[in-house]
Amino acid sequence: SFKPGVYKVRDLSLAEAGRHQIRLAEHEMPGLMALRAEYAESQPLRGARVAGSLHMTVQTAVLIETLTALGAEVRWASCNIFSTQDEAAAAVVVGPNGTVEEPAGVPVFAWKGESLEEYWDCTEQILLWPGEGPNLILDDGGDATMLVHEAARYAASGVVPANPEPGDHGYSEERVVFLNLVRRSLGEDSQRWTKVAADIKGVSEETTTGVLRLYQLASAGELLFPAINVNDSVTKSKFDNRYGIRHSLPDGINRATDTLIGGKVAVVAGYGDVGKGAAESLRGQGARVIVTEIDPICALQAAMDGYQVARLEDVLGVGDFFITTTGNVDVITAEHLAGMKDKAVVGNIGHFDNEIDIAGMARIPGVVRTEIKPQVHEWTFPASEERAEHSIIVLSEGRLLNLGNATGHPSFVMSNSFTNQVMAQIELWEADADYELGVHRLPKILDEKVARLHLEALGVDLTELTKEQAEYIDVDVAGPYKSEHYRY
Ligand code: NAI
Repeated sequence: SFKPGVYKVRDLSLAEAGRHQIRLAEHEMPGLMALRAEYAESQPLRGARVAGSLHMTVQTAVLIETLTALGAEVRWASCNIFSTQDEAAAAVVVGPNGTVEEPAGVPVFAWKGESLEEYWDCTEQILLWPGEGPNLILDDGGDATMLVHEAARYAASGVVPANPEPGDHGYSEERVVFLNLVRRSLGEDSQRWTKVAADIKGVSEETTTGVLRLYQLASAGELLFPAINVNDSVTKSKFDNRYGIRHSLPDGINRATDTLIGGKVAVVAGYGDVGKGAAESLRGQGARVIVTEIDPICALQAAMDGYQVARLEDVLGVGDFFITTTGNVDVITAEHLAGMKDKAVVGNIGHFDNEIDIAGMARIPGVVRTEIKPQVHEWTFPASEERAEHSIIVLSEGRLLNLGNATGHPSFVMSNSFTNQVMAQIELWEADADYELGVHRLPKILDEKVARLHLEALGVDLTELTKEQAEYIDVDVAGPYKSEHYRY
């Protein structure tokens, strides 16, 4: 169903299937549903126009409809070409009270399997509204924020973005497509991005990689509006990044390959929050897990948790699975890929696809790519003097595999992340005068509130501090219970 400028999704007739899934997800998302109840009357997001760039899944549908239930107008795109669940996108467009013939929901611009050109067109669509433009961004990975910043910078300087070919001076295909979009968009209206940037009151950012970009912009003095780092709420990164991955990594591997994990050797690059969840889940399936790290603290943690810690180049021949979780670039090189065990399964669960050098592998003479099914490819390396022909299995073309090969994290853990997101949007909208230009975190009392909203559903009985105990440890009976420097 393509209605450019109005919405753009795969097929609106999938909306009923999506609505059933959304209804079940709502039951698993007590934090978001509690916010709907709390704010039904006061409508704290009235007047807010939110441009959202975040994986268009069933869970995100519940987030979107929470934002609208609180009074916001919303437009949405996915932050990855493979992560959209088409039935969820259709259901959001139709809306809870609309029909396929007369959609009454939110304009969504997302479908599973976008090209890079389509991806950036969709991102542009959420930022260029008919009539008044957005005044808030809800971002995951920072692409929407980057588009506003770069396009506004080009507009201010009057410089036309370069027009390179992929590979020229290290320009990636993604970067070339992005520059083409900025050039085209500024050509249509040289001042539109100046206005978009000026109208944005703030952005709330979902993930580690996007937060890194925000801190880089802030330290370069280039940040154009205040940002809230949602990722570093404890109830986000210590839950979604860890327990979410613990669920969705094996889900992605299983749906993609059905290769038994038990008894095999799994190599996990990175032992941060995502790496910890990845290693735990693979061990839970009976794999022998080897971790690679560059940070001595995380390497020591992995060792103390009972994992072998090694260098990637020393374990290429023994790993049956290689999973990157670093948020860093060129972690698995083309040479690494070519040196792996025959039929090794390789996937990335960090935000961007630059962790694994798929483009470099494609340039190896004689290498052949065979599609097994969408988002699962076998790459065959020709026989050489040292080695017979062999192949590896690459998931989601090196893009995050839990969303490309499966449906991402489950609802309950995303309820924690997205309750933080909604609170951050309210903070930016209601209290925008109080947030200076810079990157902020939500107050700890709100972090604790997010956790509280999820206790009852799990039958957790929380112990209450006595007044004497609270005085002894120097906190308030009602919280917050920890100092800012506490690490959980
Ligand atoms: P983190 O910073 O906690 O962990 C990354 C770890 O990788 C660090 O311990 C770092 O020392 C290590 N590392 C960096 N370079 C390395 C290298 N060359 N070799 C080995 N280890 C290396 O970050 P976090 O929160 O774990 O996030 C990781 C990535 O996952 C980010 O890109 C984040 O945006 C993404 N993410 C993806 C999710 C998904 O659903 N797929 C969910 C949450 C986060």
